[in-house]
Amino acid sequence: MPFPVQRPRRLRLSENIRRIVRETSLSVNDLVYPVFVTHGKGVARPVEAMPGICNYSIDQLLGVLQEVVGLKIPAIMPFGIPAAKDEVGSEAYADDGIIQQAVRAVKKEYPELMVITDLCLCEYTSHGHCGIVEDGCVLNDPTLELLARTAVSHAEAGADMVAPSDMMDGRVGAIRAALDAGGYENIPVMAYSAKYASAYYGPFREAAGSTPRFGDRKAYQMDPANAAEALREVRLDIEEGADIVMVKPALAYMDVIRRVKDACDYPVAAYNVSGEYSMVKAAAANGWVDERRIVLETLTGIKRAGADIIITYHAIDAAKWIKGL
Ligand code: PBG
Ligand code: ZN
Repeated sequence: MPFPVQRPRRLRLSENIRRIVRETSLSVNDLVYPVFVTHGKGVARPVEAMPGICNYSIDQLLGVLQEVVGLKIPAIMPFGIPAAKDEVGSEAYADDGIIQQAVRAVKKEYPELMVITDLCLCEYTSHGHCGIVEDGCVLNDPTLELLARTAVSHAEAGADMVAPSDMMDGRVGAIRAALDAGGYENIPVMAYSAKYASAYYGPFREAAGSTPRFGDRKAYQMDPANAAEALREVRLDIEEGADIVMVKPALAYMDVIRRVKDACDYPVAAYNVSGEYSMVKAAAANGWVDERRIVLETLTGIKRAGADIIITYHAIDAAKWIKGL
């Protein structure tokens, strides 16, 4: 018998044979594009650490979304930069808050574009924490009430889905109950279930102005060393009514994505966060990596790990590359 009998390279010899045996294919259907929206008119303020990403006023955002809709990216996720911050994050649940205004404007202009709102207080609180602070501690249960109010106010503005990112215990249940009581039983909850206390959020905090004024988020976001705990968080969120569960960040947590995918039969989202984006953009700007290949390889890897939905700042570029544009 000639040696070797099995030659795996046979299935790699042409692009067409590679295409028919390919196990994972990235699709525009998988992508969600996060955007930063701010008050004012004619504002397009670049985020220094995230080349290609800006803080947009609503009028400018609508222009950018034309491309998103044209590429058939199914959803955006707006983050708000409020006019003013206070101890209890009032603008998060104000009827004329930046997110509420943006959602109304986007849904009016592009009714078919899905708007998933991030639900948190840290962009809106003067101390920059994701909940009500007392004696340097983030209080869990009083925070739930504000998150639930925020969820209802997003739904009233026309949000298609809400995504709580605060990591308070019991928040999915509180939000679900408030939505149901408000007649929004058809609005799904995408829970940031396994959200780690990560240095990869650095550029986002510059973009959203949400760096905590004291301390860090380790008393509510997860310890990067833990994976079994992620499965508990996912189970609790599903018990409380989550429709989609999320792992965040993505790249340092590929094993967690896989374990969550294997452990539950709900759609799994992964957030390819700001720091992951910035690292690629910085290396590409230096000519050290091929941006297109790196991005498609990274997103394919996140999908192969088990993500059904990928939230990524690369969404517009990736959609073009997937379509061969
Ligand atoms: C708000 C929130 C954060 C991100 C999404 N929602 C920041 C944080 O928790 O500090 C991070 C997104 C990113 O880094 O791209 N809680
Ligand atoms: Zn937060």
